[in-house]
Amino acid sequence: MKYYILFGPPGAGKGTQATAMVEKYNLHHISTGALLRKEIAAGTELGLQAKALIEKGCLVPDEVVEGMIESEFNSVKGVDGFLLDGFPRTLPQADALDAMLAKTSEEVTATVSIMIPDEMIMERIKGRALKEGRADDASEDIINNRIATYHNQTEPLIEYYTEKGKYNEIDGIGTIEEVRNRIFAVMDEF
Ligand code: AP5
Ligand code: MG
Repeated sequence: MKYYILFGPPGAGKGTQATAMVEKYNLHHISTGALLRKEIAAGTELGLQAKALIEKGCLVPDEVVEGMIESEFNSVKGVDGFLLDGFPRTLPQADALDAMLAKTSEEVTATVSIMIPDEMIMERIKGRALKEGRADDASEDIINNRIATYHNQTEPLIEYYTEKGKYNEIDGIGTIEEVRNRIFAVMDEF
């Protein structure tokens, strides 16, 4: 199985690009953000706990998302691999992922990182807020907190995967199609 990590700051275009990636390479898309929003919409206890954190622009506890990922790995069949969108997002999550895959002697195939500057994050998320109404897109303060959370807690993963020779960065500036073609050029190597 292939295990691709779709990495990048909030609003970089991970969700946008994921659809074409899973189709072309027969992968199962796992967005931890989307799974958490589903729990919130269903009003589960987990959803209630996650809601308060997400709406402040903070991360939910590592164990929560790790459990979600493992249960997807165990239940989804008939694909050539998984596309992890928004996971891992902390160093402990990256270690947990390595440990999960080690159980079946597998490992992360590659990280595909879509990179855009902070000013563009704000612009893109404000654009999406008009269409989708996500609670964590609702104010500049929340978006700024998500950007800060990304720099403080998630950015260290760049070094983590670079040291393992598994980090591939793509320029996220350009049209959706231009970015998609850059991603495909990288993924065709694996
Ligand atoms: P999550 O849902 O993962 O949000 P995120 O990482 O902040 O990323 P986004 O979904 O906001 O952005 P995206 O990169 O998918 O961009 P999109 O394609 O939509 O997480 C939400 C929250 O859940 C977290 O803050 C956290 O609280 C919690 N959570 C999730 N995972 C967690 C984890 N592992 N650990 C702990 N907590 C976790 O694009 C954005 C906009 O730009 C769209 O409108 C799109 O149309 C537009 N756009 C895209 N590409 C282009 C382009 N090339 N040109 C012009 N516009 C473009
Ligand atoms: Mg997304």
